[in-house]
Parts: sequence; C-alpha cells; structure tokens
Amino acid sequence: QNEEEAVAAVHEMIDELKFGKSSARIVIEEFLTGPEVSVLSFTDGKTLVPMISSMDHKRALDGDKGLNTGGMGTVSPNPCYTEDIAKECMEKIFLPTMNAMNSEGRTFEGCLYFGLMITPKGPKVIEYNCRFGDPETQVVLPMLDADLYEIFEAIYNHQLDKVDIKWHKGSCACVVMASGGYPESYPKGIKMNGFDEKGQVEGCFVYHAGTKLDEKGDFLTNGGRVIGVTAKGNDLQAALDKAYEGVSKISFEGAHYRKDIGQRALKALG
Ligand code: GLY
Repeated sequence: QNEEEAVAAVHEMIDELKFGKSSARIVIEEFLTGPEVSVLSFTDGKTLVPMISSMDHKRALDGDKGLNTGGMGTVSPNPCYTEDIAKECMEKIFLPTMNAMNSEGRTFEGCLYFGLMITPKGPKVIEYNCRFGDPETQVVLPMLDADLYEIFEAIYNHQLDKVDIKWHKGSCACVVMASGGYPESYPKGIKMNGFDEKGQVEGCFVYHAGTKLDEKGDFLTNGGRVIGVTAKGNDLQAALDKAYEGVSKISFEGAHYRKDIGQRALKALG
C-alpha cells in the first residue's frame, strides 16, 4: 500500500528468500487499483472468442479480509465488465495477445485466461493463465448456450470462426465451502451431510473439488476447497439466493464459506 511496505517486501524476498530461490529475482510493476474481472477465452490462434465475464473472490474472509486463497466464490457475468470495456479489451489486450503469440511462433490453442483489473486508466492485465479458471469455470460453463465439445473440436481443426457461441441470459453464482483452517493447514476425512446419493442438493449443481466417497457411501472432505455450490437465476440476486440455500443444506465440522459472495457485484449493479 505504500513505499515502506514495498521496500520491506523486496528485502524479505531478495535478502531473506521468503519464497525460496524463486524470490531471488523479482519484477517490479506498477501498483494497480480497481475491480478485478476474469475473462476466459476460446482461441484457435486465428479467432478469439471471449467467454462471459466473471468475478472471483480471492480472500478467505468476508469483506475481502484474511489470507489469499485459490478463490472462495464467483459470479457471472461481472457487472464491472461493461460493453465498452469489453470492446477495449478485445482491441487492446485479447487480439494483440493472440497476435503477439503467433508472431513469436508460440501460437496458443485452447482456453486463454485473462485476469484483468479495470483501473482508472482503463483495463490492464494482472495475469494470464493457459487454462480455465477455478472457481470461474464453475459459473461460466453453466452460462454457455452451445456445445462445448463442438467448440473444442473447432479449436482443434482451426475453425473456431465457424461456431456460433451464445450465452444464457441471467446470472450464475458459486459459493465455495472450505475446510476449517484453509488456506493454512486443515483436517481431511470429515464426514459431510446434506447431499443426495449423487452428492448434489436440489436447485444447485455441486462441484466436488476436494471430497471422497468412503466404502459406506458417505462423502468425506479431502481437500482445502471442498465443494463449489453453484446455481443459476434470472438475475444475480436469484442465483445467489439459490446457491446460499444449497449451502445451508450441507454441513461438515469446521466448514467455512464467505457470506458475501456477489455483494460487490450487486453494489456495482446499483
Ligand atoms: N481463480 C483464479 C485462477 O483460477 O487462477
């Protein structure tokens, strides 16, 4: 947040090797502020089709407090990603990235993930990933109104321009239920309650990320982020209500989840 903190962080990384050898060499970049947006895209190296936008919630606790995690919940679409910003991203970030990779002889085919920040000076890239995002995918794919296999096949055959990729109207929300202690150390093997025999709850789709089935047919926790309880609705509030209703049916000792997934997005909607 200030120069003093930045200097201390540099010392910790370079002199004290806080992250081992990987922090012996660092890159110093501009400090960016603004809402974050995740945009996954399909590309075959010739055509790039952005997927519907989403918003991750990285901190462990409500109000964006606590430690950074792999993501405690998501909503889609992200209301901070307006049509004008989407156009700017396509012209200034997405297509130039695809073209630059081509000109370096590193044509990328598959799912390219743009982690963006909408700064006062416009959208900027925070990170790229050559993969789907987690838990972004949990809310993006249910909004896809097309055949995912056809899209993959078109990418493989370099014919992505021939596929009509549409998105459902409405919204989707995912609330991650994590093990007590996550993202630090946490226990495993805790019995979970509330599922039907397929590990689902009515009105939602439950993604199992860190669970396992024991020989009695019970679901046990087996990871930090245990499940992603996901629901679609006509609008964001409806999707959130359904997802949280699903969460309320599931229990396991030490379970924790954020109660404010989607609140920032609702505020942005006004
Ligand atoms: N949710 C962030 C990521 O998948 O990298």
